[in-house]
Amino acid sequence: MFKVAVIGASGLLGRALVGELAQQAGWQVVATTFSRPAPNAATLDIRDARAVEQFIEREAPDALVIAAAERRPDVCEHDPALARALNVDAVRTLAAAANRRGAWTLSISTDYVFDGAHPPYRHDAAPSPLNAYGRSKLEGERALLDTTDLGCVLRLPLLYGPIVGWAESAVTSLVPAIAASAATSAADGKSAVMDAWAIRYPTFTPDIAVVIRQMLERHARNEAIRGIVQWSGDEPMTKYEIAIRLAEALQVDARLTPQHTPTDATPRPHNCHLASDRLEALGIGRRTPFDTAIRQVLAAFPWRGDTAA
Ligand SMILES: NC(=O)c1ccc[n+]([C@@H]2O[C@H](COP(=O)([O-])OP(=O)(O)OC[C@H]3O[C@@H](n4cnc5c(N)ncnc54)[C@H](OP(=O)(O)O)[C@@H]3O)[C@@H](O)[C@H]2O)c1
Repeated sequence: MFKVAVIGASGLLGRALVGELAQQAGWQVVATTFSRPAPNAATLDIRDARAVEQFIEREAPDALVIAAAERRPDVCEHDPALARALNVDAVRTLAAAANRRGAWTLSISTDYVFDGAHPPYRHDAAPSPLNAYGRSKLEGERALLDTTDLGCVLRLPLLYGPIVGWAESAVTSLVPAIAASAATSAADGKSAVMDAWAIRYPTFTPDIAVVIRQMLERHARNEAIRGIVQWSGDEPMTKYEIAIRLAEALQVDARLTPQHTPTDATPRPHNCHLASDRLEALGIGRRTPFDTAIRQVLAAFPWRGDTAA
């Protein structure tokens, strides 16, 4: 039996990953959540080092995937202590505990470790984060790689996938404003303003789950991937372009206005396109076209005019 611990199984990525891994014959998945208890998952606060050590000792996994994090840039900016506790210190604690048991640790990081000025970025390009979130994730990468020789960092860009609320992903969080713009008449003049400056590569969480499962398979055959790898969708788009495609999928007549200069309070990079060549060279990867994937997401979580979700 090959045993994988998924830390942060209640999150956008964690749920997709547990769904993928649970289908593998001969694999056992142990999952943890924090504020959202789930059936078949342990509750674990990864800031509690003793609890983390006890969890790893008790479960003795062969591999650990850290999908828990504080990933909201604005929260990281305003609460750097929380960002550090989750994105740096907890990664070190988890990796040290896994290392003591000889377990492989995969930690998830972000394209925001780069400044977005010189894409595409290979895995060995020099990082230069612009905001507190990117800085904390970069420190977390270094904490992992300093703590264990049996560790790997997987950098990812903007995620979307099956959701339990519109705000869960920066892709689906556009839906309420798109729908509201379609509900107003042209005479009201209320179109939704969408960022048309930053170039993003939305990446589907079930595709990433396949990538991680393929990485885990290599570890299971004693060919563990170490160091830094990256995975990205290959369709560049601004939020404005994402909104147009969402409106098409929703079949609504949205009224959208492109915003060609950045307006975010938190500095964000322009284009952090991640080169996925290291994983591709290993035959790892899957990319579902955006228009196909987003229709799956919307079919499973249909818009009912409820902006509260
Ligand atoms: N979302 C994106 O667009 C994006 C882009 C690039 C990289 N990433 C990276 O991908 C990874 C997964 O992101 P995501 O979008 O799936 O995040 P998410 O939906 O915000 O989920 C965060 C997870 O962390 C858990 N968590 C929060 N505080 C915790 C604590 N104190 N102890 C234990 N667990 C705690 C949450 O548990 P509860 O919900 O149960 O509290 C949840 O399972 C992160 O490393 C993130 O930095 C995300």
